[in-house]
Amino acid sequence: MGLRLLGDPPANPAEGVRVGAGPQGPVRLLPLPKISDPRGNLTFIESGRHVPFECRRVYYLYDVPGGEGRGGHAHRELQQLVVASSGSFDVAVDDGTRTRVFSLNRSYTGLYIPSMVWRELANFSSGSVALVLASEHYSEADYYRDYDEFARDARVVA
Ligand code: TYD
Repeated sequence: MGLRLLGDPPANPAEGVRVGAGPQGPVRLLPLPKISDPRGNLTFIESGRHVPFECRRVYYLYDVPGGEGRGGHAHRELQQLVVASSGSFDVAVDDGTRTRVFSLNRSYTGLYIPSMVWRELANFSSGSVALVLASEHYSEADYYRDYDEFARDARVVA
């Protein structure tokens, strides 16, 4: 599947643009606790405290081959927190009107993505892991996999 937002020409990072205008607030970076220790660092995430939703599912993307992208969809209800728990990758987000690219490379910073936001993940570094917390169990019915359908509905909601 071709990526719309992170393809060629490169998307404008649009620093400071608010993407996501619904009641859950915009796409945003959330700081996570970090317990520094000479033996190694520790980060934890508590439902409803460090993420603004109850976590019902965790999944992770790993062994992503160079040049491959993930995502390419939006969700009707699902909220997510995406963390680069290892390595780095870019997340392009689009609420049907505005687009922004976030580069994730810290285990103690999560990207909160509210519902009704199209997302594309790309530029995975070798060995990177995208850890994702989700507010709902997996449901294919919650997905928009067609960008035009998503954009039409997103503009009605906005
Ligand atoms: P998809 O969400 O399209 O992957 P990504 O956004 O990371 O590119 O999911 C890929 C496949 O995995 C699809 O067939 C649905 C399945 N899947 C599950 O069964 N459970 C899950 O929790 C997730 C995220 C995906």
